[in-house]
Amino acid sequence: MINIVIDTDPGHDDILASLVALAHKEAFNILGFTTVCGNHLVDKVTKNLLNVLDYLNIDIPVYVGASKPLKRMPEPQGIVHGESGLDGPVFAECHKKASDISAVDFLYDKLKDNKLTIVALAPLTNIAELLSKHPECKDNIEQIVLMGGSVYSGNIQVKSEFNIYHDPEAAKIVFNSKVPIVMAPIEVCFAGGLNLSYIERFNKQNKVSKLVYNMLNYYSLYSLMHHMEDAIIYDMTTIIYLLHPEYFTIKKYNVDIELDGQYTRGMTVCEDIKDDSIINNPIDVLMDVDKEKFINVFFDAIDYLDKQY
Ligand code: BDR
Ligand code: CA
Repeated sequence: MINIVIDTDPGHDDILASLVALAHKEAFNILGFTTVCGNHLVDKVTKNLLNVLDYLNIDIPVYVGASKPLKRMPEPQGIVHGESGLDGPVFAECHKKASDISAVDFLYDKLKDNKLTIVALAPLTNIAELLSKHPECKDNIEQIVLMGGSVYSGNIQVKSEFNIYHDPEAAKIVFNSKVPIVMAPIEVCFAGGLNLSYIERFNKQNKVSKLVYNMLNYYSLYSLMHHMEDAIIYDMTTIIYLLHPEYFTIKKYNVDIELDGQYTRGMTVCEDIKDDSIINNPIDVLMDVDKEKFINVFFDAIDYLDKQY
């Protein structure tokens, strides 16, 4: 069992990733969720998370983080996640509230006495602020397992992925911090894509399936619009990696972040590791995954949660 904090901007795939984590109490002690501006403004993504926790009556604290990237303006992704940041499900009035303690203060406080793994499903603003303000806490971060970046492609620009693109300055701080990092780039997330025909599987009355069905029905519109056969549940890759690293092919690259390129802002520049490497940040990059096993972890998690809630 490992201590984790999930840093997140829900977002459909963020919630699906968190559900898989919640289904594995034997593997994860979730100390808290920290929220950050990304898919939508921080107030909205925090509300989305609280709505889901309230709906399932889950008592894990939520700490609000950065309301904007370190040096740039927020760029909400309404086209993917809708006006609310989590379009699809409709929730009753929410009774849960976020803590008054900030995301960075919470992380710092936990890291004083605990080793922990940070699962980062969003732009890296909170984590960059933590590392800049409290560099001494690095020793207690076992690893940062993050969804972000790409090896050769992009989903927001030709060569960049949204989480890194949204706050490249923060990503640069994190990638250069020497904290052990496992990076799930978009390519491995595509390799684990969920065929749209599977969505009907969740068309049931069980509480969790119902939520998943309503989320996926909305989220899949983006795939349909782009003539894709799969819905890409990006953020889930991190949690499934922590559960089953043996399902993945992993390659070590030196990685740094492009800040200024007109076409390449937020590109994760991946350099093969060799004697004359220019970049010196060895990062474990997830390259490929056994798709069937990957999807089955998701199905099993939701089946399990259907029995619990
Ligand atoms: C990432 O961006 C967000 O839209 C998703 O939640 C995921 O974290 C994919 O590029
Ligand atoms: Ca996310």
